Amino acid sequence: MVALRVLGLETTCDETAAAVVELRPDGLRTILSNRIRSQDEEHRRFGGVVPEIAARAHVDVLDGMIRDAMAEAKMPLSALDGIAASAGPGLIGGVLVGLTTAKALAMGLNKPLLAVNHLEAHALTPRLTDQVNFPYLLLLASGGHTQLLAVKGVGDYVRLGTTIDDAIGEAFDKVAKMLSLGFPGGPAVERAAEGGDSERFAFPRPLLGKPEPNFSLSGLKTAVRLAAEELQPLHERDVEDLCASFQAAVVDCVIDRVRRGIRAFRQQVGNPSALVVAGGVGANRAIRQALQRSATEAGLRLVVPPPRLCTDNAAMVANAGIERLLLGKTDGLDFAARPRWPLDEARAAPGARA
Ligand code: KG4
Ligand code: ZN
Repeated sequence: MVALRVLGLETTCDETAAAVVELRPDGLRTILSNRIRSQDEEHRRFGGVVPEIAARAHVDVLDGMIRDAMAEAKMPLSALDGIAASAGPGLIGGVLVGLTTAKALAMGLNKPLLAVNHLEAHALTPRLTDQVNFPYLLLLASGGHTQLLAVKGVGDYVRLGTTIDDAIGEAFDKVAKMLSLGFPGGPAVERAAEGGDSERFAFPRPLLGKPEPNFSLSGLKTAVRLAAEELQPLHERDVEDLCASFQAAVVDCVIDRVRRGIRAFRQQVGNPSALVVAGGVGANRAIRQALQRSATEAGLRLVVPPPRLCTDNAAMVANAGIERLLLGKTDGLDFAARPRWPLDEARAAPGARA
């Protein structure tokens, strides 16, 4: 086998990214370049991502980022074996920017197009950073999604549990917003929590003990808001304690839900090769540490990609492109962007239980 090199593009939310990943004949995957530009500045004053601003910002910088990614990888575009882009799910304007650019490159260079599911790119990241075999249990926790999935193969996912309201990242973002900690919220809440007392507020742990491995965050978020309103005006100490108590409640929920997820996996699929975490929330140290305890308790290896590969990036898209290329799963230039695109597509089809 010769080496495979794929360019990946990521534009589904507020990060513009371009990266080149190489699969060597010995099976080793190497990130040759991984350029990323966050639009935090553009969105900060709105306290969240504004889709129209995001799409325009992607248009402004994507070409230059591809040039930089190729220069850093020290190869011409003609040396690529495929062009991958996140084709959804995400903000449609941004998705179109990345996908259309990938199509143009694929057509101009006469290379295969790989239309990647952004969630699949997160889900397969542990196979880029660590050699993880299928099947594994994945906690996918980002700003838009919180799911426990059995990853049985590329394109073969069974959803064991999901959030019935907010995603974990979304809850972090909302708590940050109500405490005026800025955007993006996850890292800000984590920082504030460091100095805080996690036992000052007894926040609820929704769904704790329920057998189905689902999540619920909205009641917890409301409890934080009520406590914050009662304390007005908030002092720094209050904010730190609110964040620490909130994060501790999330950690307890994650531990309990993952424990149920492992049980469901063993009943429905068999023994997982690892417990894997992907998505931006995987960057949170308290959650990582808690998951390490859960994994150890269950006799499983825990794999968490480094924070910069947990949050949105293009190396994960290039990596998913390589996985699909290896299986001959290439896409036509008529592939339509998908604002919604569940991972367990067959099971989530109309008529199936979502
Ligand atoms: O995967 P990602 O970069 O984007 C998508 O949502 O696809 O995840 C971003 C989410 C945001 O909600 C952000 O607040 C959260 O991940 N996040 C964190 C941390 N870093 C990012 N949440 C908690 N602690 C963190 N350190
Ligand atoms: Zn993401």
